Amino acid sequence: MIKPLRKAVLPVAGLGTRFLPATKALAKEMLPVVDKPLIQYAVEEALAAGIEEFCMITGRGKTALVEHFDIAFELEATLHQRGKHEEVAELRRTTSLPPGAIASVRQQQPLGLGHAIWCARAFIGNDPFAILLPDDLVLSETPCMAQLAEAYRATGGNVVAVEEVPREHTSRYGILKIAQKRGDLIEVAGLVEKPSPNQAPSNYAIIGRYILLPEVLDHLAHFEVGAGGEVQLTDAMAKMIGKAPFHGLRFKGQRFDCGNKAGFLEAQIAFALQRKDLASDVKRFLRKYLEAHCDNHD
Ligand code: UTP
Repeated sequence: MIKPLRKAVLPVAGLGTRFLPATKALAKEMLPVVDKPLIQYAVEEALAAGIEEFCMITGRGKTALVEHFDIAFELEATLHQRGKHEEVAELRRTTSLPPGAIASVRQQQPLGLGHAIWCARAFIGNDPFAILLPDDLVLSETPCMAQLAEAYRATGGNVVAVEEVPREHTSRYGILKIAQKRGDLIEVAGLVEKPSPNQAPSNYAIIGRYILLPEVLDHLAHFEVGAGGEVQLTDAMAKMIGKAPFHGLRFKGQRFDCGNKAGFLEAQIAFALQRKDLASDVKRFLRKYLEAHCDNHD
C-alpha cells in the first residue's frame, strides 16, 4: 500500500552567501517576491498538495522564518483599532496554520543539504516526505508539489522535479542518468551531483522539489562528504536507485532560482505580471526602461 504524503521538510539553514549583503542578518527565505516571503510560497505550495505537517531546518538568525507563521496579536490589535479588519482576516488566512502544524529543528552548522534533511529524522520517522527548497520558486497552473504528489501516488516511490538546463550549467545541479522516458515521467538509472558538462550523463537537472521515501535517512546517516565538501542529498538518493522506484518528473511550469540575483529579479517581474493590481504599472515601467537602456544588440 502506498502511504499518503502528509509531511514536508523545509531546509532553511543555508548561509545564502550569493545574496550578501541582504542575507547578513536576514534569512534568504524571508526575501519577498512582490509582497510574500519565499518561505510562504513554499508552505502554500505544500498545503495545495495535501501536506499537513511541516518541519523547518533552521540555524542561527533564522527564527523570523518560524515566527512568520505565528499569530501576531499586537499587530492584529493595532489593525483592528484602525478599522483594518479585512487586513487581519487576510493575515490569518495566509499565514496561520493549525496549532502544532509547524515544527523546527536546528542544524547548527550548514554541512550540506543532505545533513540538513538528516536533522529532521525524528520528524520524518517512517513516512514518505516532501522537500521544498524555498529559494526555488515555481510559477505554474498546478502547483509543482501537487504534480509531484500525483506522480508519487502513481509510482509509489521517490520522485524529484526536473528540468532541462543548458549543458554549461550542469555543474550547478544534481543531474539524472536516464533509464527511460515515459512522457514527462523519467525512470532514473543514476544521479550525479554537480558534474562538469563533459561528464554529465544528461542535461536533466533536479530542482528544489522532492518526494522521498524514509530509507534515504539510512544513507544520510553515514555523513559521506561529496561535491563541495558537503553532505549531499543527491549521493544518498542515488543509493536508493534499484531498491525502490525512482523517477524524475518534468513538471509543467517555470522555475526561478531565487538564490541568485538575476533569478530573483526575474521572479519579481513574472509574479508581478500575474497580479491584476500591479500588471499594468509593471508593463508601463518595463517599457520605459527597455526603451531607455536597450538597443537591438541587447
Ligand atoms: P543553497 O545551495 O542555495 O545554499 O541551499 P545556501 O547556503 O542557502 O546559499 P548560497 O549558495 O550560500 O548562496 C539550498 C537550500 O538548502 C538549505 C538552504 O537554506 C536552501 O534552502 N541548506 C543548505 C540547509 O538548510 N543546510 C545546509 O547545510 C545547506
